Amino acid sequence: MYDQSFDELRTGFTAAVSHELRTPLTQMRLSVDLLRRALGEPDGRARRALNAVDRGTHQLVRLVENLLTYAKVDSPQWRVARRPTELRALVRTAVDVFVPVAANTGATIALADGEDVVASVDPDRFHQVVANLLENALKYGPGGQTVRVSLTVRRADAGVVELRVADEGPGIPPAERSAVWQPFERLTTGSHRTVDGVGLGLAVVREIVAQHDGAVAIEDAAGGGACFVVALPVTRA
Ligand SMILES: Nc1ncnc2c1ncn2[C@@H]1O[C@H](COP(=O)(O)OP(=O)(O)OP(=O)(O)O)[C@@H](O)[C@H]1O
Ligand SMILES: [Mg+2]
Repeated sequence: MYDQSFDELRTGFTAAVSHELRTPLTQMRLSVDLLRRALGEPDGRARRALNAVDRGTHQLVRLVENLLTYAKVDSPQWRVARRPTELRALVRTAVDVFVPVAANTGATIALADGEDVVASVDPDRFHQVVANLLENALKYGPGGQTVRVSLTVRRADAGVVELRVADEGPGIPPAERSAVWQPFERLTTGSHRTVDGVGLGLAVVREIVAQHDGAVAIEDAAGGGACFVVALPVTRA
């Protein structure tokens, strides 16, 4: 009846729907910005409502981007478009997007000082990596926590740049550290159970990093919590 397999149809459908969701979501984001400017300093309730719409649309944008990446990743056309990129500026931009999300639970995101690093990456995809890790850090960590982000060039290995995102949440037990990178794999123990998610964020992170010839790892954060490490080669374009 069909020329395509059910899997291909499902993938095509996911990609098409995700793509269609982008336009209204972009319109919503622009409208929130416009309302912010038009309203000046709104009172408490209006400000909270506006912030909630803002957070919700950003969350939907990330979900749609992850679905779109997941649907396309196996197709031969899916390629990262690398160009020389100032990684520190990119990480700072991603952090700025999450400042209102963090503020909502009294959390803080601290980006450690460090040197500028230029690497050949796909800026949109690398933003997606940072966003997925920050979203998890804030989602699984407690209110009032500090999420520590750093970007460093490994001294012993000057050709590798390392991004670290460490939180103060429950962490990930060593036995689960390879499973959580699989699509739709979610932990169901303790406080993990109460947090919503699809289980795609880390699978997408791993895939994007692999496309950049990089590697991912999970460690214990210094003060407890999870520390996600992304190592990328600093290949010049
Ligand atoms: N910072 C973290 N601290 C503790 N557990 C985490 C953290 N990040 C991820 N996890 C665990 O790994 C699982 C997979 O994470 P992933 O980001 O892929 O999916 P998700 O957050 O559940 O959904 P989404 O697709 O919305 O990102 C999570 O469900 C959670 O159990
Ligand atoms: Mg996630």
